[in-house]
Amino acid sequence: MSYNLLKGKKGIVFGALDEKSIAWRTALRCHEEGAQLVLTNAPVAMRMGEINKLAETTKAPVIPADVTNMDDLKKLFEEAMKHFGGGIDFILHSVAMGMNVRKGKHYTEIDYNWNQKTLDISSMSLHRVLRTAWDMDALNEHASVVGLTYIAAQRVFPDYNEMADAKALLEAVARNFGYHYGIRKKVRINTVSQSPVKTTAGSGVKGFDGFLTYAEKMSPLGNASADDCANYCVTLFSDLTKMVTMQNLFHDGGFSFTGVTQAVIDQMEK
Ligand SMILES: NC(=O)c1ccc[n+]([C@@H]2O[C@H](COP(=O)([O-])OP(=O)(O)OC[C@H]3O[C@@H](n4cnc5c(N)ncnc54)[C@H](O)[C@@H]3O)[C@@H](O)[C@H]2O)c1
Repeated sequence: MSYNLLKGKKGIVFGALDEKSIAWRTALRCHEEGAQLVLTNAPVAMRMGEINKLAETTKAPVIPADVTNMDDLKKLFEEAMKHFGGGIDFILHSVAMGMNVRKGKHYTEIDYNWNQKTLDISSMSLHRVLRTAWDMDALNEHASVVGLTYIAAQRVFPDYNEMADAKALLEAVARNFGYHYGIRKKVRINTVSQSPVKTTAGSGVKGFDGFLTYAEKMSPLGNASADDCANYCVTLFSDLTKMVTMQNLFHDGGFSFTGVTQAVIDQMEK
């Protein structure tokens, strides 16, 4: 169902890799709600060509950009503004890469060069995106920027590894840039702390299936799906949430505030 919540709005969506991606689901919902879109991903991620299907459905151009490359980002914003014929109303930052996680390195033994890359791609990239928009004055008044995060930024989930630190930094960047951009142009910047979802990035975490079931049992509403997340992002891009900024917003079926559930107790007693 569409409510036309994003009618006339123009947005850039980072990170749609395949149809399971949270960014993919969100782009579809934004399109249904009347937004005009530009899609972007790392040039290497585009070689698979999957994103072209999404581009067709959402009638959006695809502009490649590596989020760690300032020239790519500048070109992306220039081309997006040219395509839209003006400024940008919303951005979804749905990007992450855990280099040490990928290479199977334990948290206590991380390689620091890889870790720097992890933090650059997963966290400081939000700063790079915002800085590019800031320098080019690319965002309209009341524009909304959303980054995706996970509760491992606040609580220990051992196998989330270095990504826990990366998410803590991502949330800090959203808060701190949110202050400056709020004052300058009423731009709001938030992170959505999402339930686990089986995507390419999600499945990279060791023991992901057990993790997913545990979260399901620990959440009074169950796990929030990627489509649920897309709906929530739509509300954050809409004018209905104009005064929400610098927040880390839990979108997790109640997981973050639950100590234990009967389902988990029953499991322990077996
Ligand atoms: N899946 C989950 O369980 C879950 C839970 C909470 C938060 N998140 C977060 O949601 C976001 C989206 O992840 P997803 O689960 O949809 O997985 P995904 O693998 O579909 O998306 C990750 C995206 O990051 C892109 N990317 C990686 N390096 C890049 C670079 N250098 N430049 C540009 N793009 C780059 C990938 O190409 C990919 O499209 C991530 O920030 C992730 O940490 C995921």
